[in-house]
Amino acid sequence: MTHISVDPDRCVGHGRCYSLAPDIFDADDLGHSVVRIEDVAGESAQHALVGAQNCPEEAITLTS
Ligand code: F3S
Repeated sequence: MTHISVDPDRCVGHGRCYSLAPDIFDADDLGHSVVRIEDVAGESAQHALVGAQNCPEEAITLTS
């Protein structure tokens, strides 16, 4: 399993994470990222990785 977390102090709302992986990430009212599913595996973990790799602020952390 891969655990996903978003650092609210780093996220500024670029929105790439929830645009690229809407099954994993959502937006709050200000456009900041909210993790929909915190623990994922398989294809969902790949989607989470795409979101993390495309965040310019490096706000998304994946741990396994
Ligand atoms: Fe925030 Fe990065 Fe997503 S800045 S909205 S976590 S692309």
